Amino acid sequence: MANVIGDEHGITDKQWAKLAEKIEPLILIIMKEIAGYKRHPNITPTRYGLLPTNTELADEIMKRANELKGRYDNLVVLGIGGSALGNIALQTALNPYMYNLDDEIRNGWPRLFVLDNVDPDQLSSVVNQLGDGLKRTLFNVISKSGRTAETAAQFLYIKDMLATKYPDKPLADHIIVTTGFEINKEGEFDSTLYKIADELNLPMLEVPKDVGGRFSVLSAVGLFSAAMCGIKIDELLAGARDMHERVSCENFKENPAAINAAINYHYYNQGKKNYVIMPYAYALKDMADWYRQLWAESLGKKLDLDEHEVWVGPTPIKALGATDQHSQVQLYREGPNDKLFTFLQVDNFGRDIKIGPAPDCAPELGFLAGKKMRTLLNNEKKATEYALVWDKRPCLTVIFDRITPYAVGQFIYLYEVTTSLMGALLDIDTYNQPAVELGKEATFALMGKEGYCKFVGMSYKEFAQKIIAATQIDEEYLV
Ligand code: PA5
Repeated sequence: MANVIGDEHGITDKQWAKLAEKIEPLILIIMKEIAGYKRHPNITPTRYGLLPTNTELADEIMKRANELKGRYDNLVVLGIGGSALGNIALQTALNPYMYNLDDEIRNGWPRLFVLDNVDPDQLSSVVNQLGDGLKRTLFNVISKSGRTAETAAQFLYIKDMLATKYPDKPLADHIIVTTGFEINKEGEFDSTLYKIADELNLPMLEVPKDVGGRFSVLSAVGLFSAAMCGIKIDELLAGARDMHERVSCENFKENPAAINAAINYHYYNQGKKNYVIMPYAYALKDMADWYRQLWAESLGKKLDLDEHEVWVGPTPIKALGATDQHSQVQLYREGPNDKLFTFLQVDNFGRDIKIGPAPDCAPELGFLAGKKMRTLLNNEKKATEYALVWDKRPCLTVIFDRITPYAVGQFIYLYEVTTSLMGALLDIDTYNQPAVELGKEATFALMGKEGYCKFVGMSYKEFAQKIIAATQIDEEYLV
């Protein structure tokens, strides 16, 4: 606030009161919006606000996971973007670092690999490592649209490999599909993956209608792999429900999402358009990645709701404390004052470690001896914050008492609602991602898709020629 870092870079009491006035009336509207109410004709409908109360789904998934427990040594998630980042974030946050390597920790649950790329080296390495273990591997193919090129390519590869290796075994023993169940205008299932899964009799889980990928971690998208790795998904949803209550509060001062949005929105308007999120806990490292997608795809928009060009969007940046103190803080303190820093602090870690005694020859290390590792990490956070504030850099901290499924559910929901409030403040459609389409279509064209590309109004073949000419790509190389 201004009383700490001064009027030029901090928030004054007057500005705070104005922010409260602006945001308070939005709270109820946003809480309705996330339950399906379309507050403007140009907003993509969303219903992610209904996910935390879907305890039936959590029970069903938990039941299924318990039935599958012991049958598989490996679970491989194939997906990308919103169909993978939440899964990775939950696993890193809620299972020990060595989960995949330690049978005792896993206690009968499978190892987890999330493949969110089409890197042939990465995929081959996983497949080689599985070896005969493929027999005891379950693939969870996740794609809401069911036609994302990366996931489709992975799926086709895996499906073919399984069919070749185990011609007598049903694919349903090895693949479970998570996709959209929507029917399109032609009366067909919209998701290509749904059609294939239906034909092959693969078990399926639904990505709910009107829940975009980056808001889907609390649906079957994130819950199934989490449950299969022993994570208490009922507690995750309970945490999200608790946060739902808190962010529904119409009193600005008591609403954590409103306060969070106010701070973020204020600094954006003050020219601090880069938002660094810096957890001081390895377990939250991939939560920062999840946040990065949520923030970037939701808030980076060319048009406002009245279709005027605005080109808005804060740039989310991830960092990890203490590691990135040794790679980023020089820039953060002495580079341009164009950033807001959000720290994630953890008060109590699952375990703590006592630092050993300093040898006689190194009395200068005595200040560490006998101290707790947690104390060092949290003091490093405090020290970094102090150093940033010294240079008038605004910082805010989200504190986890412990990293539990409940707290992670709270955090996810807090940031989802903060994003919705930010979208309303920036007057944009938070739930679409039109700028992703051109690149997707261009990939289809370069990969030789047949037919007409509605998106650019020409055949894919013509489109490919244009791209090749524009980027001077050697056509031979592409083939
Ligand atoms: O958040 C989003 O909407 C995107 O990141 C999608 O999740 C991503 O493009 C993958 O889409 P799909 O689940 O349809 O394969």
